[in-house]
Amino acid sequence: MKIFIDTAQIDEIRQVKEWGLLDGVTTNPTLLSKTGKPWKEAAQEILKEVPDKPVSLEVIATDFEGMVKEARELAKMGDNVVIKIPFTIDGMKAVRALKAEGIKTNVTLVFSPLQALIAAKAGADYVSPFIGRLDDISHDGIGMLEELVEIFAMYGFETEIIAASIRHVDHVRRCALIGVDIATIPFKVIKQMFKHPLTDIGLERFLEDAKKAGISIL
Ligand code: E4P
Repeated sequence: MKIFIDTAQIDEIRQVKEWGLLDGVTTNPTLLSKTGKPWKEAAQEILKEVPDKPVSLEVIATDFEGMVKEARELAKMGDNVVIKIPFTIDGMKAVRALKAEGIKTNVTLVFSPLQALIAAKAGADYVSPFIGRLDDISHDGIGMLEELVEIFAMYGFETEIIAASIRHVDHVRRCALIGVDIATIPFKVIKQMFKHPLTDIGLERFLEDAKKAGISIL
């Protein structure tokens, strides 16, 4: 399973890159607004830090022509830019048109396997089902994802599934078990994936015992 970071914060991207875990980045207008920088500056900074892995940047327009125009502009910012297109009828028309131009797309705001199926048939390179936001309204985000993965496998779609709106480490575990291609994870959750209380307790005991026994390796 590939790990993308779901953020526009450059320090978070740098850290996950240093940890050797970074396979890509996803942003959205909300995440870019949180940087407090002009969106273009923040996006350019990310692309400079991550020049060789997919970086999703989202359009703001909601009509077909507007989305295509914005997508072309965003695509000029880097060869690795993937255009995030919201799941709407105009959005799916835009995905089809951008595919014909060789511009990669990531269909966002996907909440059902049928929306994902339509996006794949339109030629999306990625679809982003939002798990956490479904859980937030007492729906079964992981259940939706399981169905989606099964459908894509059955028909052999090449579209990659990015599990999005991940809230906690158990979401990540379930994503890995289901076999999604990618999970895009907030920094806080990536950090939590390293943690286990028994690792901390175990290390503390080993160090105490090493001290007692006078073990010094160098
Ligand atoms: C996906 O690409 C989105 O940026 C993101 O996962 C949305 O998550 P949220 O529900 O935490 O805003």
